Amino acid sequence: MGALTRCSTIRRSLRHIWATEDGEKNMTARDQHGGAQQQVSTALPLLELSDVSVHYGAVVALDHVSVQIYPGEVVSLMGPNGAGKSTVLKAVMGMAPVSTGTVRWHNDILASPTHEIVKRGISLVPQGRRVFTHLNVEENLELGGMHVRDAAERSRRLDAVMEFFPILRQKRRDPASAMSGGQQQMLALGRGLMSSPEILLLDEPTLGLAPIIVSEVFQRVTEISKTFGTTIVLVEHNIRGALSIVDRGYILDKARVAFEGTPKEIEDSDILTQVFLGREDNEE
Ligand SMILES: Nc1ncnc2c1ncn2[C@@H]1O[C@H](COP(=O)(O)OP(=O)(O)OP(=O)(O)O)[C@@H](O)[C@H]1O
Ligand SMILES: [Mg+2]
Repeated sequence: MGALTRCSTIRRSLRHIWATEDGEKNMTARDQHGGAQQQVSTALPLLELSDVSVHYGAVVALDHVSVQIYPGEVVSLMGPNGAGKSTVLKAVMGMAPVSTGTVRWHNDILASPTHEIVKRGISLVPQGRRVFTHLNVEENLELGGMHVRDAAERSRRLDAVMEFFPILRQKRRDPASAMSGGQQQMLALGRGLMSSPEILLLDEPTLGLAPIIVSEVFQRVTEISKTFGTTIVLVEHNIRGALSIVDRGYILDKARVAFEGTPKEIEDSDILTQVFLGREDNEE
């Protein structure tokens, strides 16, 4: 069976499993894959890209890409350099020139400016741990909640994030530049959480980190999902690490979805060999 045929077969079977007669899901996405319990309340995807294409001049960054993310899931986007992973996230955030297709959020077409998209419950932690090094830790976090008008609510969120990342409370007055790479990544995750997102889009959160810190980041991503009930899309080069924590994964190659499935389905297939064979940017 070809990879694309397989993709649509899996998609159909997921829809079948999750949809009940009254259109509600009576099982949980993570039940399906043996993960932590997250209640899934609707048969509709939370986030859905349908046939999305993005062009930068002559460069095709996405070529009719379709991705569905269901509430409570942790889903990874994997693939070689230049496959289009970051562009998927940018297309969701209104940061990429979408030429065909639609992005739906709660089944509504999403075509708003980025700051409106954040207000609607979608948060992106971009590639490259972009913390503001000249600001202190607390100021960095506050930027993540800047659209929240109610000061008491902003303060409550700050407290919740610092409760979750004790290192950020401990270093709250320190400049971000004084933090290690791992600590800056925790700060970037914390800033992403300040908007209380329903979905968190993480672009290569483990890039350039020491192996022990990589494990910690994966652990914290799992804990974010469990503690806050946040749906997570994780772009990762560390395939083994990603597959150990996600419910499903998409493999992108040359601007297209080459495969979609559970970690076991991905590992049992030869898709990783196919897309990474002969390339240097594989796994670790
Ligand atoms: N602003 C841009 N202008 C021109 N081309 C771009 C731009 N952004 C992305 N591209 C191109 O689009 C394609 C997909 O890029 P993208 O950044 O989504 O890949 P990626 O899978 O995230 O790669 P990486 O693993 O290196 O981060 C690449 O060929 C890239 O060079
Ligand atoms: Mg990228």
